[in-house]
Amino acid sequence: EKGGHDYFMLKEIEEQPSAIADTLRGHLVEGRIVLDEQRLSDQDLRDVDKVFVVACGTAYHSGLLAKYAIEHWTRLPVEIELASEFRYRDPVLDRSTLVVAISQSGETADTLEALRHAKEQKARVLAICNTNGAQIPRESDAVIYTHAGPEIGVAATKTFTAQVAANYLVGLALAQARGTKYPDEVVREFEQLEAVPQAVEEVLESLGAARALGQELAPSKAVLFLGRHVGFPVALEGALKLKELAYMHAEAFAAGELKHGPIALIEDGLPVVVVMPSPRGRAVLHSKLLSNIQEVKARGARTVVIAETGDETVKPFADHLFELPQVPTLLQPLVATVPLQVIAAEIARARGYDVDKPRNLAKSVTVE
Ligand code: F6R
Repeated sequence: EKGGHDYFMLKEIEEQPSAIADTLRGHLVEGRIVLDEQRLSDQDLRDVDKVFVVACGTAYHSGLLAKYAIEHWTRLPVEIELASEFRYRDPVLDRSTLVVAISQSGETADTLEALRHAKEQKARVLAICNTNGAQIPRESDAVIYTHAGPEIGVAATKTFTAQVAANYLVGLALAQARGTKYPDEVVREFEQLEAVPQAVEEVLESLGAARALGQELAPSKAVLFLGRHVGFPVALEGALKLKELAYMHAEAFAAGELKHGPIALIEDGLPVVVVMPSPRGRAVLHSKLLSNIQEVKARGARTVVIAETGDETVKPFADHLFELPQVPTLLQPLVATVPLQVIAAEIARARGYDVDKPRNLAKSVTVE
């Protein structure tokens, strides 16, 4: 059932266009965003004055992206917190706080306990979950299900991109309720999301090079990942995949931090993966990251650059280049993550590891 693939994870990586499309389907009804299960009134949503997002691991990385989208579209302050930390620091919660709990399994103990803590403090809770009837959606006031289908590979791939899509639906639902976006703007944002699966297809078609690169990087001791803005969570996710699958030391930095310490790590031959912003959409950040690539390259790093197609400026400094279709800034993570998933899986495979069942990991973590 691996669909002709060597491991489930590759099949699941390739299922991302349909995971995203299926997650979006049915959520725009007569020009309005609707959630799956909603025990919150429009007034409840209008009354929200602060959002917390809680999640673990890959779901946490998707939550970082929720922050960018929700703040941008709604002007509500959004805090994202590791679920395992949340209830141990007395977060400020009340009935006008919305807590978004993101969990593929819907059974993660840390996330469930964070949710319960939020409810005790009278906060409203919205779950994003891939598993019908799991505990986290059962205990929530509203739900958006990701429709990624069952994920066999222990490392999350298609559920991550589906979570990002679902997070953006939460952002649009809040923008709609608060009136921070006109109805036609909400529809336009939704339509842009609907175009993402096609863009992911394009990325998937050009992944032969990612497989070859996996072979080449397999002997490395460590890999660093750099990104900024929405590229930073992508970098974090790329590093997590590499740790989980290839048991390789991998670390992600917001690229602006490089000069505050991590640049000392750069040495001859160290692979550095850089997630470039669009030169059109984010010109200032683009030029800063371009300087970062030059800095690490000058110190001997082997650069792997993920950039928008047509971005000529990166070419002289990229030892390996992966080109992404042009998409709006907030949607770039949905395409940029894909090559990183494949590179991690291929490094793991080249090292002889079981990509679908990495050591020491369980698909669902039901202990705190
Ligand atoms: C990473 C991975 C884990 C999970 C985390 C949360 O590939 O699978 O980091 O993302 O354990 O799990 P859920 O989403 O089920 O709450």
